Amino acid sequence: MVAGRLLSLVLAILATTPEALSSPLSESSLHSLETRGRTHNGHETTDRPVVFPWPLTTGKSFKKIPRTTKTCFVDAKGNGQDDAPAIMAAAKECKNGGKIALLDDLYTIASPLDLKLNNVDIEIQGTIKFTDDIGYWEKNSFKYEFQNSSSFMQISGKNVNIFGGGTIDGNSQKWIDEHAVNNLVWRPVLITFYDLDTAYISHTNFRYSPNWYILVHTCKNVIFDNVSMAGGSSSANAPANTDGWDTYRSDNIVIQHSKIDNHDDCVSFKPNSTNVLVQSLDCNGSHGISVGSLGQYPKYFDIVENVYIFNITMTNATSAGRIKVWSGEYAKPPSWAEGGGGGHGRVNNVTWDAIRLKNIDYAIEITQCYGQTNLTRCSEVPATLKIENVLFRGMYGTASKKYDPKVGSLVCGGPENCNNIYARDINIQPPSAKSPVFTCTNMDQALLDIPCA
Ligand SMILES: *[C@@H]1O[C@H](CO)[C@@H](O)[C@H](O)[C@H]1NC(C)=O
Ligand SMILES: *[C@@H]1O[C@H](CO)[C@@H](O)[C@H](O)[C@H]1NC(C)=O
Ligand SMILES: *[C@@H]1O[C@H](CO)[C@@H](O)[C@H](O)[C@H]1NC(C)=O
Ligand SMILES: *[C@@H]1O[C@H](CO)[C@@H](O)[C@H](O)[C@H]1NC(C)=O
Ligand SMILES: *[C@@H]1O[C@H](CO)[C@@H](O)[C@H](O)[C@H]1NC(C)=O
Ligand SMILES: *[C@@H]1O[C@H](CO)[C@@H](O)[C@H](O)[C@H]1NC(C)=O
Ligand SMILES: *[C@@H]1O[C@H](CO)[C@@H](O)[C@H](O)[C@H]1NC(C)=O
Ligand SMILES: *[C@@H]1O[C@H](CO)[C@@H](O)[C@H](O)[C@H]1NC(C)=O
Repeated sequence: MVAGRLLSLVLAILATTPEALSSPLSESSLHSLETRGRTHNGHETTDRPVVFPWPLTTGKSFKKIPRTTKTCFVDAKGNGQDDAPAIMAAAKECKNGGKIALLDDLYTIASPLDLKLNNVDIEIQGTIKFTDDIGYWEKNSFKYEFQNSSSFMQISGKNVNIFGGGTIDGNSQKWIDEHAVNNLVWRPVLITFYDLDTAYISHTNFRYSPNWYILVHTCKNVIFDNVSMAGGSSSANAPANTDGWDTYRSDNIVIQHSKIDNHDDCVSFKPNSTNVLVQSLDCNGSHGISVGSLGQYPKYFDIVENVYIFNITMTNATSAGRIKVWSGEYAKPPSWAEGGGGGHGRVNNVTWDAIRLKNIDYAIEITQCYGQTNLTRCSEVPATLKIENVLFRGMYGTASKKYDPKVGSLVCGGPENCNNIYARDINIQPPSAKSPVFTCTNMDQALLDIPCA
């Protein structure tokens, strides 16, 4: 198995690098003919980074994006004035084959950014910071049906690059404090990629999102590479629901070489996420890399399929590998804004491989009672959503003291729901140094090379 993995690694490297390294006119050199070194107000534009999946690939291709042929500079107004209209105007002028250059130190965004682009580079060198007028954004944010989500900005279209070393800042503190007294307050997702085909987002910092950082909604062929996420709170109230990435109705997505410090899922595969690769992440403080939640809405069939999670460092998290499925009937915990359950679907062909853990409550967590606090009732009306062909392999490290000596919980709603779930090479130490144990219910224990209690 290890040899097989090494071989596939080598093959993956052979498959990905030659094109990127050996083409006589690489993308960046082509690009530099046009826009490198354009100077504006003392700032210089830079080359588009070359982004490709490595060391693993999804097996599907990512196309090169044609070079841009003009540059639209945006001057920040300063003094807290809204820069969104000027960015929208630049986007209008450069939306076919141009670069939108945001080179100033601070852009204030006080109205929604709706960018529909075709062959466009967005170079952000400074900070884009959203205003924190809660009432304004409740009325004016982009709204999505799924989990009642909303967003400050939305990028759609085809062939988009975002880079430049800059920062997108959601200015979250007011929402954190409002959410502590009103859990229904509508908190925007920092950025939503919606109906976008082919995009490479790299060398960008995402800070202080009031909600999820990045929603990938109805997208295909997108790579996130070398980004950083972090937030926090300056009051006693903790940030909530600050997922790193949520993928939804999306295919062929790569998330790699990035550092995340947050308070909810590091990456979450929501309904209809297929061919997703997550590799070489450093996640701190999260709720793990999670499938779901699924089965929340009975009107949809939820699919999460062909997902590979490789080479992750997970620190200070509640879980490392997690699958969460709502129970077989509608339920709503009193403190949650939304309930759900009774939905159908499948989780198929999902692998967690080479995961280093430090201070994790559960290394593995599978539940089919998500959102149902009455577990007796959950067993009477189990979920119907199937979980099949799942592998947890090569998970090493330390658990937290929270459930010591228990280090994981694999609980399926019924024996027919979970098939071919494997755990191999798992070595997790609880802080007490007692023998670690896992809870395993309705699972085929012959496939689980872990101490099921
Ligand atoms: C979505 O959330 C907002 C703010 O909490 C609330 O007013 C609205 O009723 C919610 N809509 C649905 C469909 O849940
Ligand atoms: C990652 O992005 C940062 C800018 O955010 C840049 O300074 C750094 O060189 C990049 N690292 C790599 C390996 O490309
Ligand atoms: C694993 O990820 C780390 C960064 O988190 C990176 O330094 C290392 O090269 C990666 N290993 C492989 C085999 O990709
Ligand atoms: C990691 O997460 C823990 C717990 O949330 C937090 O206390 C710590 O500051 C974080 N570390 C970094 C480097 O962000
Ligand atoms: C997922 O895809 C299936 C098959 O195409 C479709 O029936 C289902 O409605 C989709 N679910 C969602 C949440 O879009
Ligand atoms: C399982 O998913 C991986 C990608 O994670 C893919 O390479 C492989 O072909 C899939 N297996 C099947 C049987 O579809
Ligand atoms: C994990 O959390 C502990 C306690 O909050 C903190 O001391 C440590 O720095 C955190 N680890 C990382 C990598 O941030
Ligand atoms: C939990 O469910 C069981 C079985 O349906 C029921 O008898 C019991 O009253 C429920 N408990 C609560 C607190 O609702």
